[in-house]
Amino acid sequence: MNAVVEIQNVSKIYGAGDSEVKALDNVNLTIEENEFVAIVGPSGSGKSTMMNLIGCLDKPSIGVVKIAGQDVDKLNDVNLTQLRNYAIGFVFQQFFLLAKTTAVDNVATPLLYRGLSSREAREKSLVMLGKLGLADRSDHEPTQLSGGQQQRVAIARALVTEPTIILADEPTGALDSQSGEQVMNLLQKLHQEGKTIILITHESEVANRAHRRITLRDGRIVTDDKSGQKV
Ligand SMILES: Nc1ncnc2c1ncn2[C@@H]1O[C@H](COP(=O)(O)OP(=O)(O)O)[C@@H](O)[C@H]1O
Ligand SMILES: [Mg+2]
Repeated sequence: MNAVVEIQNVSKIYGAGDSEVKALDNVNLTIEENEFVAIVGPSGSGKSTMMNLIGCLDKPSIGVVKIAGQDVDKLNDVNLTQLRNYAIGFVFQQFFLLAKTTAVDNVATPLLYRGLSSREAREKSLVMLGKLGLADRSDHEPTQLSGGQQQRVAIARALVTEPTIILADEPTGALDSQSGEQVMNLLQKLHQEGKTIILITHESEVANRAHRRITLRDGRIVTDDKSGQKV
């Protein structure tokens, strides 16, 4: 087994003194390659903080976070950005597509950051849009697409860099139930193809599609469903 996320004795503290908030409180968690994990918990329990750590968008106050075997604390900003670009594909509730930009150019963005020529980037992006059933929408701008289509464009953008981990924050939160179902079917398919899927959700139906459910409360993991044990 190959651990892609290792969180060891991690606390995340915001603020200082009287305004100090312990958003994560001594958390330990290992996620292996090709797991399909849902992180659940009430508002304020630390889900976004955990996502930010896994996504290398933030560093822990205490403890060690290793992504794809690399200790994020030991990386400088350039290497951290690189790790993020290579290891992780982000999917957000609000899609975050670039406005007035076609689907294909949205998908191509992370490849351009990586230094591919615009021709190469567009070619790869068209292939990915085709895989997600959006070949005939490649020249559409976000406002010309439905919510479900926009989220699939966002997923194409997350996938085009061939990341190990897909990190999705409430990916169905802004979608009607049918489009949400399509997005979940897509994540399930990607899991079957070997991706590691980590998603945050407060919808139990969505969480139930995952093979492992981790519940946070007050910055601590209170249940880890795969082991079926309270921790
Ligand atoms: N940047 C921040 N500054 C101060 N407090 C924060 C910050 N981000 C989150 N918090 C606090 O940390 C706790 C966990 O927040 P968060 O990780 O956003 O939880 P969730 O995503 O589960 O709603 C909350 O009490 C929240 O108010
Ligand atoms: Mg949150």
